[in-house]
Amino acid sequence: KKNISVGLLGLGTVGTGVFQLIEKHQEELVHKLGCGVSIKSILVCDLEKAREVAVNPTYLTTNPEDVINHPEIDVIIEVMGGIDETRQHILKALKARKHVVTANKDLMALHGTELQKAAYQNGCDLFYEASVAGGIPIVRGIADGLVSDRIQKVMGIVNGTTNYILTKMDDERVSYQDALKEAQELGFAEADPTADVGGLDAARKMAILARLAFSTSVDLEDVEVCGIENVALKDLQLGKQLGLTMKLVGFTHFQDGQVEVSVEPTFLSNVHPLASVKNENNAVYVNGEAVGETMFYGPGAGGLPTATAIMSDVVAVIKNMLLDISGRQFIPPRFEKVLKTPDQ
Ligand code: NAP
Ligand code: HSE
Repeated sequence: KKNISVGLLGLGTVGTGVFQLIEKHQEELVHKLGCGVSIKSILVCDLEKAREVAVNPTYLTTNPEDVINHPEIDVIIEVMGGIDETRQHILKALKARKHVVTANKDLMALHGTELQKAAYQNGCDLFYEASVAGGIPIVRGIADGLVSDRIQKVMGIVNGTTNYILTKMDDERVSYQDALKEAQELGFAEADPTADVGGLDAARKMAILARLAFSTSVDLEDVEVCGIENVALKDLQLGKQLGLTMKLVGFTHFQDGQVEVSVEPTFLSNVHPLASVKNENNAVYVNGEAVGETMFYGPGAGGLPTATAIMSDVVAVIKNMLLDISGRQFIPPRFEKVLKTPDQ
């Protein structure tokens, strides 16, 4: 094929980033793939909304079928968010033998195993690099880069909104509400930011990372979660006096067949590498038996950084299509669910 057609479900912060990247980096894509990538149809809520990109209005639709069952489209990029309706769209797309790339950690944390099985059964790829830590290639870093190692611990800052809020409160004494408003305006926060500030967004990402790192079937309810809603400026100022910085830290650990996963505001010593991760940036430590300590760092949210993760998946999908090896990615968990209980 000279050109691969893709469809977008959503044209918000991330969808716009994908649109821009495909438009501006077409030369790189053609060079690396030997074919071009073009967008043929885009699902949105509001056809009249002003868009940041010059999109052909005939490509916009409010009917998901126009994207999912478009005869020319091979790859569906899901960047609309949401859970139940979106799950149905993805299942439909997979049944129609379309490959799927998603940035949706809510969906992957809750229904990831079901969707990956459906992809496998239909001979399709379902990739989700953008679902954890925005532009940082942490999913592939763990799944492929560290595939031969025994990972023991994953720890990090995996929510850009809360890191942005804590940075602004700590460095500039901006109020919690004003910092949250800024994070929303910059497109880092979810449509409903409750999941960001309550720690649920980070918990979803940590569940995905724990599954990947330890090959276990961790569920979202297994993650202990505490958000930053009750953090006050005076807490951060007190920490500062003691040489400490507060971060929302995700932690998962695997030892003697037991997994522990948590997300909570944590005071770190100022010399700890995670203490200097500022604004919407994320960082993830992975500790493996053979590799030792590794750290992945970069922008954890935002349109273009997240779009680069999505396009890395799109390129992986297309390479598999061109080699005729799509849909071979389902690896069932190695361990039954094994979690620490508080009395252990
Ligand atoms: P967003 O700005 O709110 O955009 C959502 C887009 O989807 C909009 O274009 C909206 O249409 C469309 N949409 C939503 N519900 C729809 C429905 N029921 N039917 C048709 N169209 C619908 O969201 P976003 O920030 O781009 O995030 C998208 C996904 O990426 C989410 O799963 C999010 O968790 C994930 N993600 C976001 C970031 C980030 O930095 N923002 C980073 C990583 C992952 P209209 O434009 O017409 O309103
Ligand atoms: N709302 C998310 C965050 C977007 O702030 O990290 C990236 O997943």
